[in-house]
Amino acid sequence: MTGKDIAFDMVVVGATGDLGRRKLLPALYFLHKYGQISPEGRIIAVSRRDGDRSSFLAKAGDSARRHIDDELTEDDWESFIQRLHFATVSATDSATYDPLKKLLDEQPDRVRVFYLATAPRFYVDISRAIADSGLANDKTRIVLEKPIGTDLDSAREINDGVGKSFQEHQIFRIDHYLGKETVQNLMAVRFGNVLFEPMWSSKQVDHVQITVAETLGVEGRGSYYDKVGALRDMVQNHLLQLLCLTAMEPPARLDQDDIRDEKIKVLRALRAFTTADVAKKTVRGQYRVGAIASKPVTGYLEEPDVAEDSATETFVALKAEIDNWRWAGVPFYLRTGKRMGHRVSEIVIQFKNVPHQLFEGQRGEPQPNRLVIRLQPDEFIKLGMMTKTPGANTHLEHAELNLNLKKRAGGRTFQAYERLLLDVIRGVTTLFMHRTEVEAAWQWTEQILDGWQEGGVPRSYSAGTWGPPKSVGLIERDGRSWYEHIVEANR
Ligand code: BG6
Repeated sequence: MTGKDIAFDMVVVGATGDLGRRKLLPALYFLHKYGQISPEGRIIAVSRRDGDRSSFLAKAGDSARRHIDDELTEDDWESFIQRLHFATVSATDSATYDPLKKLLDEQPDRVRVFYLATAPRFYVDISRAIADSGLANDKTRIVLEKPIGTDLDSAREINDGVGKSFQEHQIFRIDHYLGKETVQNLMAVRFGNVLFEPMWSSKQVDHVQITVAETLGVEGRGSYYDKVGALRDMVQNHLLQLLCLTAMEPPARLDQDDIRDEKIKVLRALRAFTTADVAKKTVRGQYRVGAIASKPVTGYLEEPDVAEDSATETFVALKAEIDNWRWAGVPFYLRTGKRMGHRVSEIVIQFKNVPHQLFEGQRGEPQPNRLVIRLQPDEFIKLGMMTKTPGANTHLEHAELNLNLKKRAGGRTFQAYERLLLDVIRGVTTLFMHRTEVEAAWQWTEQILDGWQEGGVPRSYSAGTWGPPKSVGLIERDGRSWYEHIVEANR
């Protein structure tokens, strides 16, 4: 069933917050514009602040102009806002739910989605208030944004608390990286071809790199980010999900249970960190003033709502190891940071060198094969191979087989939130995280947080660079290089 046939009411708690404005409203606008959702579907923003529909629409209009590109047209926006409703409700307090109940009771048989775009500490109280108001029925789904908690205990508390009001199959925990087009393609490439699977192990893979580099800073989210940092904000969820999809065994079926089981096996096989390991295998950094695309930018400590002596990390690099048969001895180097030189998210699978150098003495250095899966800004999957240059002599050169995913899509592809919101409406759970996954990811991440507690502070790096020099040392002492250095060296 497509989303077009499903009448729904989507209640967005926190619709005017950062996530609501930057991601959710634009995604819903696009789903509307491209006819992906039922014309009957309503979107109901709730806010505890005094306000009404027209002031909400004015705010929504302002942010749409900022966050939707040239695809924002007057006509589409006008027809989109016919779906938008507003209710003044304090989401944690069921005594204030009457205006929302009135709206929802007009259409009691619809799929009902509650999207909690709020701080996670409110999730339990809001779920309870929804249930106490009698608004949770068989067709109700609740969507929780990451991060689910700030450590294992708080994640369990949230999962237990929300679990008292909703059953697990009604809870959709979003990690928007799972909705990205190329992440879907990673599964297609791995499991839709016989080519890679025999090579996808320590027999042929030397190491894996996962980089999510952003040029953005904290963008007005200082008070959130300063309490969280890059490890909780990005590694515990987005990077570990990418690692799991890269490293997991083929699932028997493409459903949530089978995929989740395989991902959990990977998370449980991640080698534990002692305090000494944390010092040796992780690097944290914090950006200071610098320049991005030749424009000066301030340092993290000068950002609004950031403590002036903050020790929050805006960059993490680490070496993870997976203790199972497939991956024994293959390091996974993970790296993410804000205010880096380039925006790029990619997974690099570096294969081993050929076992015997047939071409020694010939011009051109043989390089190992490399599969580069680029999520953004451009979307491609490239396989680096050695070939011969044309001519009488055997000179080797490096060439790339390139699957340019954007070009093949012939224009527009779904953005992550569009795909995920549509799946929530359709009740498809495959791309969402089960509580056991979230908790297993925290269990591993927490060891790093604990190790950092033992001492040390983030190393500073200039905005616009690839992070602290020590992160280069992390991989180079193993005789390897970050992918961008390899590319540079081969220019
Ligand atoms: C969010 C983080 O989950 O992901 C942000 O909270 C980060 O700090 C964002 O900027 C990155 O997402 P994307 O899709 O722009 O790579």
